[in-house]
Formats: sequence, structure tokens, C-alpha cells
Amino acid sequence: MPDIFISNEGPVRKIRINRPEKKNALTLAMYEAMAAAIEDANKADTVKCVVIGGTPDVFCAGNDLNDFIAMARVGGLADPIIKFLHTLARCEKPLVAAVSGAAVGVGTTMLLHCDQVIAGDNAVLLTPFVSLGLLPEAGSSLIAPRLMGHARAFSLLVMGKPLTAEEAKGAGIVNMVVPAAGVDAQALAVAREIAALPPESVTAARRLMRGSVEEIVARIDEEAESFKIRLASPEAQKALAAFLNRKR
Ligand code: COA
Repeated sequence: MPDIFISNEGPVRKIRINRPEKKNALTLAMYEAMAAAIEDANKADTVKCVVIGGTPDVFCAGNDLNDFIAMARVGGLADPIIKFLHTLARCEKPLVAAVSGAAVGVGTTMLLHCDQVIAGDNAVLLTPFVSLGLLPEAGSSLIAPRLMGHARAFSLLVMGKPLTAEEAKGAGIVNMVVPAAGVDAQALAVAREIAALPPESVTAARRLMRGSVEEIVARIDEEAESFKIRLASPEAQKALAAFLNRKR
């Protein structure tokens, strides 16, 4: 199976992150494949809802940290990452996430763009950006404080405090916590429920609820500018190398 596995189940497009040997860390090719699948779903009349899921023990360990090190040398977040983040922000189809296990970095911040998040009781959401010498991305510096208030967003995004599935539900990121083995089935059921609603009405309501997409896209770009500086910083280089060279 490829690292990003795309399938359709009736009106639901399923995007599975499938690189379990690296805890579903995202490479540039994976970002490209995900962006293409979302863009295509956006255009396809037959697709009424998109589900993003991972593998049973991990949703996504974030960006591949080897790529972060490489990107520091070539001038910031690579185009496929920015394209994926813009596509996520601009997506007009409802997005459902099925989160089992760890959701780290962009594994968590992509959830802030989703309309429904189903989490397994084994899920942990974590954004260690700042301890890696980096800063929050994917528009999270705008969306998270709006969603959960500044203080809780600061704990998550700056202090890197993990959220259990239940805590993420309390913070307004997660809708439902289910036994880990039932995450995919529950997410599909929710996606089917959304897909059965009048689609134009769903789109119009969703558009109003999400507010200005361009504001989110502008924040993604602003974050990316600062990310570029942080990536090249000695703080980030040291922290990234420490993770990749750690002894186990
Ligand atoms: N980038 C590159 N490789 C990664 C990775 C990442 N983001 N996350 C995990 N991996 C790799 C590990 O290097 C390891 O590779 P190896 O087997 O070749 O040594 C493999 O995936 C398994 O990871 P491991 O840490 O042993 O699994 P674990 O179950 O003990 O822990 C995580 C899982 C997700 C908690 C842990 O891997 C982790 O913290 N990853 C980094 C997450 C991160 O900082 N992401 C960026 C956020 S901005």
C-alpha cells in the first residue's frame, strides 16, 4: 500500500496516512498526494465528505524531521507543505478526522481544519513545535486560541502540553471519543451522515461558520515566514538533530 492511500466509499473520500514504520511522519510526496486528493474531492460532485485517518497505533507523527533539517538549508517550508496547508484551509467539502494514537505537530494542527474529529481512547494530541525551536503552523496560531481560548492554546502550542482524547474533547477539538478499534468505523458513519445532508446547504453553512478563509491562508503564510527563520536557527538545528540521533 502507498504511504498515502486514497479510496472512495460511496460519497466519502478516504485519505489514509500509511507510513507506520515512521509513525506516519509526512514526507513531501505525502503532502503532495494528500493535497491532490483533497483538491480532487473538492471538484468532484460525487464526493460529499472527506475522511482523513492514520493507522491503528498512530495518526501522524508530524512532518518528517529529516525533511525539516533539509529545509533549513534550502530556505523554509517546502512548497508541497504550503500547498497542502492552503488546500486544507480552502477545502469546501466537510472534513472528518479519524484519530487513533499519537497526533503530533501537523498531525494535530490539521485537525483544527476538520469539521468533525473522532478520536480513539488511545489518542494523544501534541505540538512540540517550540521545544524543537520552531513555532506553530497550519494557521493554528489563529484558530487554536479562537477555539479554546488563549491560555489553553498556549499550553498546547507553546508549552507543548499533550492532550488526551478526553481533554481534546473538552478543548473543543474532538467531537467524540470511542474505543480505538472503532475509530475508522465511527468516522465513516459520521461522514456518511454528513454526506446524506443537502450538499449545497452544508457548503453554505460551513462557509459561514468558518469565517474568512483568506485570513487563515494569510496566517499560514505569515507563520511560514517565521518558520523559515526558526528552522535555520541554532535552537532548531540542535533540537532536530537531538531527536534524530537519540540513543534508544
Ligand atoms: N520524522 C521522522 N521520523 C520519525 C518521526 C518524524 N516526525 N517520528 C517518528 N519517526 C521515526 C523514528 O525516528 C523511528 O525511526 P527508526 O525506527 O528508523 O529509528 C520510527 O519513526 C519509530 O519512532 P519511535 O520514536 O521509535 O516510536 P515511539 O512509538 O517510541 O514514539 C512518537 C512515537 C510519535 C511519539 C515519536 O516518534 C515522536 O515523538 N516523533 C517525533 C514527532 C515530532 O516531533 N514531530 C514534529 C512535530 S513539529
